[in-house]
Amino acid sequence: MREKVHQLYLDFLEIAETKRQWNIFSDIPWERFDSVQPSEAVARAMEVYCIEEMYVPDYSAQGLRLLRGNFDMAGFQIRWAFEESRHGLVFREYLKRSGMRSEAEIAELETPVANRAWELPFDTCRRMSCYGALQEAATYSAYKAQKDRALANGDQVAAAIFHHVGSDEAAHAAFYRSLIKLDLEQDRRGTIADFGHVLANFKMPGDGLIPNYHQRLESSGGGLSARTFVEKVILPTLTSLRISRAELKRAAHGQTAAASPPRDSSDTAIVQD
Ligand SMILES: [Fe+2]
Ligand SMILES: [Fe+2]
Repeated sequence: MREKVHQLYLDFLEIAETKRQWNIFSDIPWERFDSVQPSEAVARAMEVYCIEEMYVPDYSAQGLRLLRGNFDMAGFQIRWAFEESRHGLVFREYLKRSGMRSEAEIAELETPVANRAWELPFDTCRRMSCYGALQEAATYSAYKAQKDRALANGDQVAAAIFHHVGSDEAAHAAFYRSLIKLDLEQDRRGTIADFGHVLANFKMPGDGLIPNYHQRLESSGGGLSARTFVEKVILPTLTSLRISRAELKRAAHGQTAAASPPRDSSDTAIVQD
C-alpha cells in the first residue's frame, strides 16, 4: 500500500509540474477586461467560491494532522494546499482587476474565514478520501458550468480562470479516486461502507460556514442542482470506482458485500434512490 501511494503521489506531482502548471500572472488574459464587461452574477458566484477556497489554512492544517507520519500523503496535501490557495487568489484578482469589488469589499471576504474554523467532516483517511473524491468532482462540475457560462458571455478572463482552476479540481478528484481504488483492493466491503456513509452525510465545505451559502449560490447561478450532483458527480465517481448499486445497498445494511467488482457498470447507481 505504501509503495503504491508513493507512486500515486509521484505521478500526481509529475503531471502537476509538467502538464498542469499555470500561473496567475501570465496564463490569465487580464488585458481582455478592456473589452469584457463582467456580470454581477458572475462576481457574486466568484465571491462564494473565493471564500470557500480561502479556508485553505483549515483544510491544510487539519489534513496534515490526519496525515502526519505518511510523507507521500503529506506531500500531496501540501501541493494540494498550494493549488487551492492559488484558486482563492485568482478569484480575488478577478474581483479586483475587473473593478467589480473594491479593496474593502475584497478584504471583507476573509471575515467568515476568520470568524469560524472549518473542521474535518470525517475522522479517518479512508473516509476523507471518499469525501475528497466527491467534493473535488462537485467543485469541478460547478467550475465547468461557470467556464461554459463565461464563454457564452464572451468573458475570456473568467473562462481562462475556470479552465485552469477546473483542471486542478479534476486532478484532485482523480487522485482521491485512485486512493479509494487502493482501499477497495485491501478492504472492499469496509471501503464501500465508508463511501456510503460519506455520501449519506455529504455537504460542501462552505455549507454551514459561509453565511447564506445556498441562497448566494442559487441566486448567482453558481450552485449545482441535486440532479446535476447525481449525474455529474455521484454516478461518474461510482462508475470509475466500479462500485455497484447492489454493493452500496448491502454495505448500507451492514451485509456482506460482493468480493469482486461488477462485470459491467450497468447496475451502478446511488445508494439512496
Ligand atoms: Fe479549489
Ligand atoms: Fe481541489
